[in-house]
Amino acid sequence: MRNTFYIPFLIAAMIFSRSTLAEGPIVIKFSHVVAGDTPKGKGAIKFKELAEKYTNGKVKIEVYPNSTLYKDKEELEALQLGADNLMLAPSSSKFGPIGIKQFEILDLPYILPSAEIKKKVLDGPIGKQLLGLLQPKGMVGLAYWDNGFADMTANKPLRKPEDYKGLKFRIQSSKVTEAMFHSYGATPQVMAFSDVYQALQTGVVDGQGNTPSNVYTQKMHEVQKFMTLTNNFYISYVVVVNKKFWDGLPADIRTQLSKAMDESTVYTNDIAQQQNDEALELIKKSGKTQIIALSDAEQAVMKKSVQPIYDEMAPRLGKEMLADFLKATGK
Ligand code: LMR
Repeated sequence: MRNTFYIPFLIAAMIFSRSTLAEGPIVIKFSHVVAGDTPKGKGAIKFKELAEKYTNGKVKIEVYPNSTLYKDKEELEALQLGADNLMLAPSSSKFGPIGIKQFEILDLPYILPSAEIKKKVLDGPIGKQLLGLLQPKGMVGLAYWDNGFADMTANKPLRKPEDYKGLKFRIQSSKVTEAMFHSYGATPQVMAFSDVYQALQTGVVDGQGNTPSNVYTQKMHEVQKFMTLTNNFYISYVVVVNKKFWDGLPADIRTQLSKAMDESTVYTNDIAQQQNDEALELIKKSGKTQIIALSDAEQAVMKKSVQPIYDEMAPRLGKEMLADFLKATGK
């Protein structure tokens, strides 16, 4: 009689413990295309450490660097579909193909004079307005992460627009970047980041533009004779998650993850410049590529040559938003 009385409780306890065990921690896959030893790579690791700590292990972050989970064309599509509880930090250039062209404002040549101005603009109303565009596309933007200014690699120095003429350059999927290379008289070719090294090595493309940390960690400098310090565009990231997944998380978990994200954002943006400075030193030391610095006069000519792109791209980017953005950068 006594035993029979306890049986339903016993069964309930077994079911409860099983379901708790079966559920385990919430696993988030942080996928990205660059190496671990870059601003974004380190930022992802920092987020993992903090998120797991603040949620007391209720969330586990698996970091997949170097396109080991998704290549850059597929990652945002997978996130939109809700695959793998993904978290990503794609560059602003990667949002055009999924219909959020306005992020390409960040790809305009010389639009951001410094990381400080970038921070001011993106932490302000315009940054928030841009993040708001993600929600109707099924995503939530959690933060802006820095990489830095891009320099150009090729097998010749690129001191003036004419030096680009007739060459083929790998680009990310941005119409603004495409317009920039067209304005130099070059041929742009969209290609996944993970394919760039081989394309440079085999001569499928003649050159590309990227930050020193990306160039060094992908060994691009080993297959390019020159790296010209052009600083002609800025590479920055938007950290995103699937909206349904994010909204469905328990509120306390979301709060802890947001705290981890805020702190890893400060960390990433603090180390970005230093990571790129160190990478540039390592590229110099390798002796495998020659570094070309531009004089002020050469930079002025390069800058002038791309000015028409601002008007040409305004309808795509939204005239009002572009005007507000320019005003916020002090232009
Ligand atoms: C690229 O050229 O695709 C990169 O800038 C990728 C990245 O995420 O830094």
